[in-house]
Amino acid sequence: MIVVTGATGNVGRSLVQALAAAGERVTAVSRGASQVPQGVSHRQADLGEPESLKPVLDGADALFLLVAGEDPRGIVEAAGAGGVGRVVLLSSQGAGTRPEVYRHPLAFEDAVQRSGLDWTILRPGGFDSNAFAWAETVRSRRTAAAPFGDVGLPFIDPADIAEVAAVVLRDGGHAGRTYELTGPASITPRRRAQAIGEALGAPVRFVEQSREEARAQMLQFMPEPMVEGTLAILGEPTPAEQRVSPHVEQILGRPPRTFAEWAARNIAAFR
Ligand SMILES: NC(=O)c1ccc[n+]([C@@H]2O[C@H](COP(=O)([O-])OP(=O)(O)OC[C@H]3O[C@@H](n4cnc5c(N)ncnc54)[C@H](OP(=O)(O)O)[C@@H]3O)[C@@H](O)[C@H]2O)c1
Repeated sequence: MIVVTGATGNVGRSLVQALAAAGERVTAVSRGASQVPQGVSHRQADLGEPESLKPVLDGADALFLLVAGEDPRGIVEAAGAGGVGRVVLLSSQGAGTRPEVYRHPLAFEDAVQRSGLDWTILRPGGFDSNAFAWAETVRSRRTAAAPFGDVGLPFIDPADIAEVAAVVLRDGGHAGRTYELTGPASITPRRRAQAIGEALGAPVRFVEQSREEARAQMLQFMPEPMVEGTLAILGEPTPAEQRVSPHVEQILGRPPRTFAEWAARNIAAFR
C-alpha cells in the first residue's frame, strides 16, 4: 500500500489517480475532507502532528511525503515504525540552488536521508499551476500580472512530477537518487499569459508588476525570507535554475509537457 500525502494538491491529486490506475492500493492523506477516485481510501491527518500519521502509515510499503510541518524526523520515524520501506520526498529545486533560503525542504531532505529507509528526493522548479493565481483576473478582466515579464524559467507541469513520483514509488532502482525536475524549455511570464489567451481563444493582457508590487502581494501568503528567495529566482535566476533537466525524460521516456498543454488541460479555471 502506498500512502500519498498532499493528496488533494496539484501534484498529489494526479499521483493518486496514476497509482490507482496502475492497480496500486492507495491511501490519500490531507488535513481536510476530500473526494478521491473509487477504490482509494482517504484519511485525514496532519504532517504537523506526526502522531496523527501513525495509524495511516501502519502497514504501508511506501510514502510520498510533502514538506509540511516542523518535525520531519518525527514523520520519518512514524513511517519506519509503520513498516514503510521507501519514501519519496517532494522537495524543491531551491534546496540545491538557494540552501540559505530553502532550509525547510533541506531539513526534510536531511531527515529522509538519515531515516534508514530507501529514499528518493524530487527537486522540482516552479510549477505551471502557479498560473492559477491569475485565474480570477483572467476571468474578470482578461489580464495577468507578474514581475520580470521577460525572464524565462523551465516551469514544470505538476502532472509530470506526479508521473515521475508514481514510477519512483513503484519501481526499485531509484534509492539514494535526487532528481531535478523541470519542464521542456524556459518560458517567460509574458509568454505564459499569451498561452492562456491562446487556449482561451481570447487575448490575455500581460501587466508587468514592479518588484515592490509583487513583493507586497507575496507577503500576504509567504514568509519574508521565502518571498525574497522567490523574487530572486524569478528575477535573477542562476544558470542552474534556468537549466532544463533531463530527468523527467530519462524516467518517463518522453519529454516533459509544455506550458501550453497545461493551459489547455486547465482552461476551465480561466473561463
Ligand atoms: N508551486 C511551486 O512552484 C513549487 C515549486 C517547488 C516545490 N513545491 C512544493 O510542492 C508542494 C506541493 O505543491 P502542490 O501545488 O501540489 O500543493 P497544493 O496544491 O497547495 O496542495 C497541498 C496539499 O497538501 C495538503 N497539506 C498541506 N499541508 C498539510 C499538512 N500539514 N498535513 C497534511 N497535508 C497537508 C493539502 O491538503 P489540506 O490543506 O487539506 O491538508 C493539499 O492536499 C508544495 O507544498 C511545495 O513544497 C512547489
